[in-house]
Amino acid sequence: MNKDKYGRKISYLRISVTDRCNLRCIYCMPQEGIKLFPHQEILTYEEIIKITKASKQIGIDTVRITGGEPLIRKNLSFLISQIRNIEGIRDLAITTNGILLDKLLPELFSAGLKRVNISLDSLKRDRFFNITRQDSLQEVLKGIDRSLEIGLTPIKINMVVIKGINDDEIIDFVKLTEERPLIVRFIEYMPWGSINNWGEEKIIKAKEIKSIIEKEFGKILPVDINSRGPADNYQIDGFKGFIGFINPLSEHFCGKCNRIRLTADGKLKLCLFSQQEIDIKAKLRAGTSLEELTEFISNSIHLKPEKIDLDSHIKNHPREMSQIGG
Ligand code: 5AD
Ligand code: SF4
Repeated sequence: MNKDKYGRKISYLRISVTDRCNLRCIYCMPQEGIKLFPHQEILTYEEIIKITKASKQIGIDTVRITGGEPLIRKNLSFLISQIRNIEGIRDLAITTNGILLDKLLPELFSAGLKRVNISLDSLKRDRFFNITRQDSLQEVLKGIDRSLEIGLTPIKINMVVIKGINDDEIIDFVKLTEERPLIVRFIEYMPWGSINNWGEEKIIKAKEIKSIIEKEFGKILPVDINSRGPADNYQIDGFKGFIGFINPLSEHFCGKCNRIRLTADGKLKLCLFSQQEIDIKAKLRAGTSLEELTEFISNSIHLKPEKIDLDSHIKNHPREMSQIGG
């Protein structure tokens, strides 16, 4: 297993399969969308699979598929089944906005998908529309039902909490965990360049979210649910599911960071907040053996920064969130 320069084991690869999306969330994209990568710049499934195989050689055992919206890429179940077949990849998940889940889940499940993260910021139809600019709440809710029905586990719901936009729904989101084994995670709203409508006054930090929840439910106790991500998890007494907090603003988890990212246009990103990108597509398209590619990735992870100064880096970013996949 490879470690980076700072002794961190790199075991988690996030693969963005497209920069396209069927929503236009106000914190992510303008109404008209953003400029898209030309098709020939997007990695083919064969290229993604080769990179994943090479990544496995350096110790990657967990893969997450992201976008844009990954489910709008054609025949994603082919990629899922191919990654499933790579011996040594023991965990494979998708992060999706959920709209196409209801339709695609049977084939994704057959291909070997066992778990999913669904982004959802409101349970109210009008507000969902205002946040995402699409009237698709029903589809997402159906997607959640279908995920439960088919037996995916865990099913995580990610809510970006924005003051004055959806903070009055925190308790409703907690209640989603009452009867169903969902893991609802509250994410702090991060600044990201000029298009994401961010403002200091719109942040609600995890501590504040937690105190809103404790006001309603009493003291909440941490539970260890063996989650491999950066969330702290809790459970309301008697509830079937869990809640969690993802605190990119108030916690510095760089010391525990185990992940690297592959963008849809074939760049390795060693840190979400760093401008540094490594052109693995150029290497791949120049013709390279699996061994050479493995060595290339192995050398690349040594360039992973130790930590990032959020203030200076987020505002100065080479690409949008939808071009990285979170
Ligand atoms: N702050 C926090 N989370 C964000 N996401 C996108 N932009 C932001 C932001 N500025 C989340 C999405 C999704 C994941 C891929 O990233 O809601 O859950
Ligand atoms: Fe699409 Fe996710 Fe961006 Fe929303 S946040 S527009 S679902 S990529």
